[in-house]
Amino acid sequence: MQVEKVLVVGGGLMGSGIAQVVARAGLDVTVVDISEPAVKAARARLESGLARLAKSGKATEDEVAGTRSRIAFTTDLEAAAAVTQHVIEAVPEELELKRKVFARLDAACPPEVVLATNTSQFSITAIAAATGRPDRVVGTHWFFPPPVMRLIEIVRGLETSDSTLDTVQELAARYGKETIVCRRDTPGFITSRLMMALSIEAARILEEGIADADDINRACVLGFNHAMGPLDTLDLSGLDTALHSADSLREEFGDRFLAPQTFRTLVTAGHLGRKTGRGFRNY
Ligand SMILES: NC(=O)c1ccc[n+]([C@@H]2O[C@H](COP(=O)([O-])OP(=O)(O)OC[C@H]3O[C@@H](n4cnc5c(N)ncnc54)[C@H](O)[C@@H]3O)[C@@H](O)[C@H]2O)c1
Repeated sequence: MQVEKVLVVGGGLMGSGIAQVVARAGLDVTVVDISEPAVKAARARLESGLARLAKSGKATEDEVAGTRSRIAFTTDLEAAAAVTQHVIEAVPEELELKRKVFARLDAACPPEVVLATNTSQFSITAIAAATGRPDRVVGTHWFFPPPVMRLIEIVRGLETSDSTLDTVQELAARYGKETIVCRRDTPGFITSRLMMALSIEAARILEEGIADADDINRACVLGFNHAMGPLDTLDLSGLDTALHSADSLREEFGDRFLAPQTFRTLVTAGHLGRKTGRGFRNY
């Protein structure tokens, strides 16, 4: 069965962008969110995404209108799940919330439907265990902003089947995305683990007084063509979130993910990056 109808659960930053990409590829999308105000906000996010698409010149007016016409919004998860052929979950990063949503999806979706989660860090196996179809649960980790970033990191849970993997790989190709496969369900998958190793080393170089924040960032931007330096990336994503992620990687992999003391002290002091006006830099 070729998937033509996709349900996106959670129309936030990621969900609205994912919905745009899927609809742009010609599939019908329903976005479900928790309340009418949340749906209104999701619709507004989608409209600004479509406005950016139109402005970029990468789509004609007709293509933008076509994309919009293929996206519907609802607050009724069960009704939307009953008629969908694939689900992409993008609710906030809380394990218990995701497990609850997956249990509801499992009860409401037709049995053959593959349920994908956009979690950035949780065990796919733990999310799949909330359902009666762990072989049809998989991680599809998109990057922000979904219409721009080319990668989807596919993550296998313990019981994810080959045919589930094929389904999400074929879908990613239809969306025009590239994929990588994380074959084992490990914390940080491939991308977050790589990013954290670089970020921690950057914070250590700063702590050891080897270079200032500006030069450490410039090393990666100018030397490696990264879009942003690692300390700036930490400040942008929030030092609290990053420290939490470093600590969970350390639990699994040991002291190579030990966050330097200055990093921890910034968080203790409430300097969480851009959102509080100070992190590795002042804003
Ligand atoms: N923001 C990023 O850069 C990024 C990148 C990759 C992956 N992710 C992951 O994507 C997921 C979503 O992140 P986000 O940044 O879009 O979050 P967000 O807070 O912007 O959006 C979450 C949306 O889910 C809705 N929601 C909450 N409970 C719900 C429920 N029970 N049913 C339906 N909708 C519900 C919220 O109202 C909100 O609109 C998380 O797992 C996050 O880790 C985020």
